[in-house]
Amino acid sequence: METISLLESRRVVLGVTGGIAAYKVCALASRLTQAGAEVDVVLTEAATRFVAPLTFEALTGRPAYVSMWHTAAEGLPTHIAHVGLAHAADLMVVAPATANTMAKLARGLADNLLSTLALAAQCPLLLAPAMDVGMWCHPATQANVARLRERGVAFAGPARGRMASGLEGEGRLVEADQLLGHVRHVLGAGGPLAGRHVVVSAGPTREPLDPVRFLSNASSGRQGFALAQAAIDRGARVTLVAGPTHLKTPVGADRIDVTTVGEMEDAVLEASVRADALLMAAAVGDYAPEEVAPEKLKKGPHAMVVRLMRTADVLAAVAASRAESGRPRVVVGFAAETEDLVENARAKLEAKNLDLIVANDVTAPDAGFGAETNRVVLLGREPIPGPAEEPEPTALPLMTKLAVAERVLDRVQDLLQASDG
Ligand code: CTP
Repeated sequence: METISLLESRRVVLGVTGGIAAYKVCALASRLTQAGAEVDVVLTEAATRFVAPLTFEALTGRPAYVSMWHTAAEGLPTHIAHVGLAHAADLMVVAPATANTMAKLARGLADNLLSTLALAAQCPLLLAPAMDVGMWCHPATQANVARLRERGVAFAGPARGRMASGLEGEGRLVEADQLLGHVRHVLGAGGPLAGRHVVVSAGPTREPLDPVRFLSNASSGRQGFALAQAAIDRGARVTLVAGPTHLKTPVGADRIDVTTVGEMEDAVLEASVRADALLMAAAVGDYAPEEVAPEKLKKGPHAMVVRLMRTADVLAAVAASRAESGRPRVVVGFAAETEDLVENARAKLEAKNLDLIVANDVTAPDAGFGAETNRVVLLGREPIPGPAEEPEPTALPLMTKLAVAERVLDRVQDLLQASDG
């Protein structure tokens, strides 16, 4: 797994309490570590019944802690283990969080290393509850949850599904990728895009020909979803207007699903009328069948001719509304090209009144539609003074779509700062 800039060298205390879901948290410890975080795992005695501290030590490459009473002879910074770990932490996550530990945290009890750390820590606290549905629904637990929420504690889940007891209901630990999403959402808050509203469009559009057929394109939505995630990592409020795709919504994004260009146009216009930035990564179809058959078309003996009509240009509509409202203040377009990349991109930058265009050659197998990686050229109107000042155009090497998203957001940040005056 690639590193995540938000997590690089950040200190995360991962508290593990005694529930059967504790084994699932090994995946989180591993992913956080691979993403670049320094993860200090603290287990309760009960948690060690389910997973050995050694497992976490192997996954994080750091000592895992259980007892308050380590001695210096054990080579651990004991005297102040709880204070030291708590003060160094950028985030404390408790997963799974049992009803018992949540009750302690709600009351401010400090009777083991984990609860003591939670009391000493100044950083944000994220709890991922996991317990039997009856325990979760109990008024005592719900009152504790409400009290913790009031204090600004963040919650991930619990999810619905089948419990270890065989019962169905709410109480399952959220999956590791969701948990990682919550970590990013909480840790990213207050980042350089805090207070900014960013709209991202992603994925393809579909224009129906009949009830079972449509005209579309090969966009996977990955670059747009990576942009949405990167903006959340920087603290932005994100609206994600998504064409049909199977990708999971980044935690924290408000997702609006659309199918046709008309729906995409309405959703983007409505979301961006008060937004700070629009990143138009969607591969919007330029043509739609002129007629949509009400019933499934039957095949005949001859070739079939389908007349196509032009669809709306979403960015043209955005440019028109921006001329009136001044919003969004920054508009970024994307250009998928198969020839004359820079010339075509420059023409679109001008014609669509964009501040920045991200151009990629979609003929390369390792870049563009469907690939995990991308190779793009960034083209702005003029070099923007700021930390990300780069020549125009800037040809970036092959990198992951998340890394491309980071570079695009560096530019967006500079453009927003420049427009703040
Ligand atoms: N776009 C749009 N509405 C359309 C078509 C494209 O808003 N009907 C946006 C895309 O989201 C992208 C940019 O315009 O940000 C450029 O898209 P692209 O398909 O490369 O360019 P087109 O304008 O469609 O031009 P062409 O297909 O002729 O290259």
